[in-house]
Order: sequence, then C-alpha cells, then structure tokens
Amino acid sequence: MKYLTGIQKVVGVIFLSASSLVFAETLTIKLPAETTRLRVSNMPGYHLAVQNCLICHSADYIEYQPSDMQEKQWLAEVSKMQHAFGAVMSDNEAKAIAAYLAVTYGNKVGPSQ
Ligand code: HEC
Repeated sequence: MKYLTGIQKVVGVIFLSASSLVFAETLTIKLPAETTRLRVSNMPGYHLAVQNCLICHSADYIEYQPSDMQEKQWLAEVSKMQHAFGAVMSDNEAKAIAAYLAVTYGNKVGPSQ
C-alpha cells in the first residue's frame, strides 16, 4: 500500500466494500420447500425412519407417494427397500416404520402426531 496515493486507497476501500456487497448478494440462497426431511411424529416409527430411510435418499421419495397408500402398501414399499435395495433393518422396525408412514403420509387415523 505504500505506493498508493490517498485517493487510490479510498477508491480501493470503496471497491472492496462494493465487491463484498455483490458477493453477499450472489450467496443468497432460496431453500426449496421442506420435503427433504421426514414429517415429525411422536410415533416410534418416526425415529426409526429417520435412522433407516434417509441413508440413501431424501424424504422426497416418500413425500411423492400417493396419499391414499394403506399401511400394507407402505410395508411392501419398506420391504422393497430391504430386499431389493439393501436397506438394513429388522422386520419389527419395518412394521413400525410402515405404521408411521401410513398415518403421517397416508390417511390412516393413528395416535396424535
Ligand atoms: C440402501 C438404500 C436405501 C434405503 C436405506 C432406503 N431406500 Fe428407498 N429407495 C432406494 C432406491 C435405490 C430407490 C429407487 C430410486 C430410483 O428408482 O431412482 C428408492 C426409492 C424409494 C421410494 C420411491 C418409490 C420406489 O419404490 O421407487 C420410496 C417411497 C422409498 N424409497 C422409501 C423408502 C423408505 C420408507 C425407506 C426406509 C424404510 C427407504 N426408502 C430406505 C434405496 C434405499
């Protein structure tokens, strides 16, 4: 900086301030709708689903299933994840997850969420 005149320093400071403002603006990120997380519930299957279902993909795949899916269809879906795609969980965990999904994403009436 010792070779810069006073006015060059002022211009430099203005330029740096302006460029950091531009930089801040380009970092503005609009988040998508919250479909990447599972819908919160106090059913036991919720925590199991968080642990077992978001390893390979986000909750979007679950969110986009038809809302009239029955518990046995959800169980078949979870079973497909286990047997076709290699998701690791016990059958009891699979049942609890299917129950949670049927109530939270389907129209099955269940315990308060
Ligand atoms: C080991 C990896 C893995 C795990 C763990 C996993 N999935 Fe998947 N899932 C996949 C793959 C692979 C696909 C198919 C992606 C594609 O077709 O593009 C998929 C697709 C889906 C779909 C979309 C419909 C379909 O059948 O393709 C749903 C719904 C779904 N998963 C639900 C679940 C649920 C609920 C769990 C937890 C019980 C789970 N997944 C756990 C790998 C996994």
